[in-house]
Amino acid sequence: MFNNKSILITGGTGSFGKRFTAHLIKHYSPKKIIIYSRDELKQFEMQQHFNAPCMRYFIGDVRDKERLISAMRDVDYVVHAAALKQVPAAEYNPNECIKTNIYGAQNVIDAAIAADVSRVIALSTDKAANPVNLYGATKLASDKLFVAANNISGAKGPRFAVVRYGNVVGSRGSVVPFFHQLLAQGVIKLPVTHKEMTRFWITLDDGVEFVIKNFQRMHGGEIFVPKIPSIRILDLVESICGNREYDLVGIRPGEKLHEVMVPEEMAHHSLEFDDHYVITPAIKFFDKTVSYLKNKLGEVGKPVADKFEYHSGTNPHFLTVDELKTLDKVTL
Ligand SMILES: NC(=O)c1ccc[n+]([C@@H]2O[C@H](COP(=O)([O-])OP(=O)(O)OC[C@H]3O[C@@H](n4cnc5c(N)ncnc54)[C@H](OP(=O)(O)O)[C@@H]3O)[C@@H](O)[C@H]2O)c1
Repeated sequence: MFNNKSILITGGTGSFGKRFTAHLIKHYSPKKIIIYSRDELKQFEMQQHFNAPCMRYFIGDVRDKERLISAMRDVDYVVHAAALKQVPAAEYNPNECIKTNIYGAQNVIDAAIAADVSRVIALSTDKAANPVNLYGATKLASDKLFVAANNISGAKGPRFAVVRYGNVVGSRGSVVPFFHQLLAQGVIKLPVTHKEMTRFWITLDDGVEFVIKNFQRMHGGEIFVPKIPSIRILDLVESICGNREYDLVGIRPGEKLHEVMVPEEMAHHSLEFDDHYVITPAIKFFDKTVSYLKNKLGEVGKPVADKFEYHSGTNPHFLTVDELKTLDKVTL
């Protein structure tokens, strides 16, 4: 679906954007891939690896709607990956996080409508489900904006959907590179906030493939949630340093013991498919005949059980220590 099409990636120099770009170049022949982000150094470094003729590098901020509109000219698909995503930084600089993650999201929507792009997928996080920190709250607000955007765009305009997933193994600023960095500095016991902590775990490649698939599946208005494994924090410690010794540092402000991707309160409008869930919109759009039970690929879902919750602590699939070791090697 991306052959001879133009794709714009906000936050294209980030962990997701680079792997998504690599995937597009390997599997398709896009007309243009536009990387949209602020920092010229990250773009310069990315150009050293990604210099195919289809590549375009645009300096721009998602807070700047005019720039987004001109960047989206003749663009077919947009992936919105730009975000401020560090929980403590968001708590400390709340308004900056709101400006990028919420106003930035609305600018992406307005620009996509103005430039008449075809489909937009915005990346979200498990922290947006029943949020307890500002980062999660801004991503929840962003999710709501993207879902409701299908109403603004009307019958002929762009379709908008959201992909929500959990921790990406090895992404910038995440726990795996942090643990490796501490070990390299000679730290003997890794810091653990709570020994019972669990997290959803996804590789960058699986995240990228899930987003690509959902461009084909989407009607517009869905929050797509992949079925992915969970990890126990002490299994992660053992997979990285060979023992289960740790330094207990306590849960950080804004951190949860477990994460949720489909909250119980959303069960009444959530659907289960073979390898993913869909949270369907609480509101009806221009086209009241859309049935989310069958997606555009023809895959058929069914309503989840009453009180269903997709929760990292009760997930039936946990990675073993050996599986974690393999993942670590594959993705770093
Ligand atoms: N990593 C995870 O574990 C994870 C898990 C679930 C969901 N997600 C979501 O996935 C998305 C991508 O995450 P990632 O891991 O790729 O993040 P990342 O590596 O931190 O990359 C973020 C990107 O956004 C750009 N950016 C930040 N502020 C911007 C702004 N105001 N305007 C334009 N570009 C801006 C950054 O470049 P500049 O600084 O140069 O602008 C960078 O290219 C985010 O929406 C995140 O919430 C991530």
